[in-house]
Order: sequence, then C-alpha cells, then structure tokens
Amino acid sequence: MFPQTASAHSPLPRTEDGNATLTIGEQSCELPIRRGTEGAPAIDITNLRSRTGYLSFDNGYANTASCESQITYIDGEKGILRYRGIPIEDFESRPNFIEVSWLLLFGRLPNREEYTAFSRELVAHADIDESMKNLFAGFPRTAPPMAILSAMINALSCFHQEFYELDDPSQFEKAAAQIISKVRTLAAFAFRRSNGLPYIYPDRRLPYVVNFLHMMFSNTYEQHLCHDAVADALSLFLILHADHEQNCSTSTVRMVGSSGANLFASCAAGVCALWGPLHGGANVAVIQMLEKMRDGSITPEEYVRLAKDKDSDVRLMGFGHRVYKTFDPRAKMLQRMCDRVLTTLGVTDPLLDLARKLEEIALTDSYFIDHNLYPNVDFYSGIILKAAGIPVNMFTVLFAMGRLPGWIAHWKEQNERPESRIARPHQLYTGNPKTPYVAAEGAR
Ligand code: CMC
Repeated sequence: MFPQTASAHSPLPRTEDGNATLTIGEQSCELPIRRGTEGAPAIDITNLRSRTGYLSFDNGYANTASCESQITYIDGEKGILRYRGIPIEDFESRPNFIEVSWLLLFGRLPNREEYTAFSRELVAHADIDESMKNLFAGFPRTAPPMAILSAMINALSCFHQEFYELDDPSQFEKAAAQIISKVRTLAAFAFRRSNGLPYIYPDRRLPYVVNFLHMMFSNTYEQHLCHDAVADALSLFLILHADHEQNCSTSTVRMVGSSGANLFASCAAGVCALWGPLHGGANVAVIQMLEKMRDGSITPEEYVRLAKDKDSDVRLMGFGHRVYKTFDPRAKMLQRMCDRVLTTLGVTDPLLDLARKLEEIALTDSYFIDHNLYPNVDFYSGIILKAAGIPVNMFTVLFAMGRLPGWIAHWKEQNERPESRIARPHQLYTGNPKTPYVAAEGAR
C-alpha cells in the first residue's frame, strides 16, 4: 500500500492577507490577497466577473497563478528550483530518478521499504501488452517518436481501463508506477520501430536508466554496456526535467485532467504540448542550431545578430525563459555534467565548444543582458544526450520520460483537491458583431 500525500483529503492551508482594492470608474471592489509559503502573493480574482462584470486579460497566463500547488517552487529572479522544498542541486552528486519520482508523487523522500516497493512495482510492469506491437507496426518508419509516444500512451489506456477511476489511492499508485515504467518501454520501442530493429524486452535486473539504454541499444545477440558516467548523466537529465511547476505541458495535463479525463489521456496530451520547439522541442532546436554553425552555414556571431533582429524570426534556442530572469539552475548543473561526461568518456564534441562560445557572446551582449536572457535547461542537455548515443529525434522523448512524474504528481494533486473545478478560461471576443447569413452567389 502506497502512502498518500499529506493533503490527500483536506484542502491545503491558505493564508489570506488583506485585500487589494480594484477601482473601475465609480465602482470599487475588494479582492482578497493570498500568500503561499514563498514567492509572489496573488490577488484572488475568483469572483471578479460576478462582482464587477469584468474579466481579467493575461496573454499567455504570464501573471496568473492557475492553481495552488505544493510540488515545486521556483524563484526565477534568484535562479532557485526546489522539489518538495529540496534544492535541485542536492540531487546532483548521487542522481536517482526513481527516488525523485517518489518524492514528487508522495511529497517526501521514500524510506528504504517504500523505495524498494516502488522499484519492484516499476520492474514488475515494464512490459507492455504484446498486441501493442501491432500498433507500433502501423506507424510509418518516418513517424516522429513524439507522435508515437503520445499515441501509445493513449493506447495504454485501452489496455488498462481498470485505472480510469482512481478514487482508491492504492489504484492510483499502481497506475503511476505502471505508466512511469511502461513509458520507458514505449519510448525505446518507438526508436526501434523507426530504425527497423527488433524490439528488445526490458531486463528485470537492470536499473531504470540502464534498462532503457538496454532496450534502445542492445542487440538480440549482444547486450549494450552502459558506462556509469552515462547512466548518472541520464539520471540527472531525467531528474532536472522531472517537474517545473505550471509550464505549458504540465498545465495541459492539469487542464485535460480537470475535465475528469483519465491519467493516461492527460499525460498523452502533455506529450503533445511538450513537443513544440518553444517548450520541450527546444533541445532538438539547440542541436540543429549548433550543427549549422559547425557545418559553416552561419557563425555564432551572425546567429546572435539574427536573434536580436526583430525583422527575423530567429531566436537563440536554449536561451530565455518565462520564469527565470537569471541563470536557469538546471543549465548550470547540465553544463557541469556535460564537462564531466565528455571528459570521462574521452569524447570531444565541437558542438560543446560552439555552445560555450555562443554563451560567452550572448552573456556579454547588451540585448541579452537587458532582456534577462540566460541559458535554459535545453542549452546543454542535447550534448549530454548525444554523448549517451541518443539520436536527436529522441531528445524530446527523453524530456517527456523525465517530466512524467511531475505530470502525474500534478494530476494527482488536482484530483485530491476538493475545490478543483474544470479549467475553462474566458476570452475577449474580437470577431464580427452579429452578421446576417448571406450565402455567396452560386454557392448553393
Ligand atoms: N532569443 C532572442 N530573443 C529572445 C529570446 C531568444 N531565445 N527569448 C526571448 N527573447 C526576447 C523576445 O524577442 C522579446 O523581446 P522584445 O521584448 O524586445 O520584443 C523578449 O525577449 C521576451 O520574449 P517573450 O517571447 O515574450 O518571452 P516568453 O516568456 O513568452 O518566452 C521562451 C519564453 C522560452 C518561449 C523564449 O525565451 C524562447 O522562445 N526561447 C527560445 C526557445 C527555448 O529555448 N525554449 C526552451 C524553454 S526552457 C524549457 C521548456 O520550457 O521546455
């Protein structure tokens, strides 16, 4: 039996701290101010429309707290990221993705028994239903692995209808363990399918990351051997991607889940949101950008000039963040890991030198300084994945594997909160006023 998070059956504590007064013409309205444990306080506009007739407008939700959450804290000005209160840097020396997954799901670090039970559950459910292989076979070889992953997570829901209703906490925990375990198998199978290779089944004796690399790279006649440095680097990669509060894909998972959609469907939607180049897809875009420089199509200086030019739609990929206005702490850790892995493996990668050069140019350029644009998590991560032998079209899939425990933790948190409601924003309509129906001549 898995534990429940502290907040499972009671609303989270909230502190109201005075009111803000909103004045609209002659009208004035008191809006409660709410404070979390840390971070900016929020003006609660839950009753704004019913009391004033006005909506709030917030393009891209840049000023909106869409929920209360106890999972992850970010201070974008100071470059702080904490999971359940624990600074992200504390996971650097002995990276263990399973421990961090448990932490995110259940709110504290697991004891030995809890860790062992969770690991056993992951091992026991690594296989997927054999008939799912027919679904893989139906995709064209050229299908993007993110499309396959999203479709296959949805397909999992057809094979596990017992998890549609997750009111029973022990059922929820089983579902969480199964999806975290099976996604690794699905990701590896997507890669094997696109390369026309036979599927390699999970090996129960191997730890999470090593097992993934085994399914990716072993042959039927030869086991893939994984260097410890690579296993550690990938574990750290997964940990650093495991949660990042209300980012685009996590908000998507919460949005879909808010309608009562099952965990699998919600996570499949998260994969689709993550796919875009402004979100998880940026790790691919960074490598493509660096490769253009390596191949001589453009110099780092020219690229930076284009990224600053408002007439071009070029952006310095792997730079900038909605929340971080200083260094993304994950980027610093990945940069250190990048140096360590390449040194340990004795690999030189010209892309790393180009990345360093690009960073140096950007960090001393007034445009990037004035816009608070620093390297983000995607800037160095691709170089680590490359060193681990992961092909570029699988980079975002690895991001999805990492983000999964975060998505599940948020889905769970939302489902546990009695005050959760379906997410349904409004809009400011700017279309036609009432227009009579007049068919175009000859159209009927
Ligand atoms: N290169 C050049 N200019 C930039 C960049 C960039 N990478 N990022 C932002 N800007 C400029 C932008 O042109 C705008 O300038 P101005 O105010 O003069 O018009 C200003 O900075 C604010 O940009 P924004 O698009 O309003 O900022 P945002 O918070 O909506 O977008 C972002 C954040 C991450 C989408 C954006 O910084 C970006 O496109 N970065 C490159 C893509 C990338 O690396 N994405 C990964 C993000 S981290 C991991 C993840 O979330 O998955």
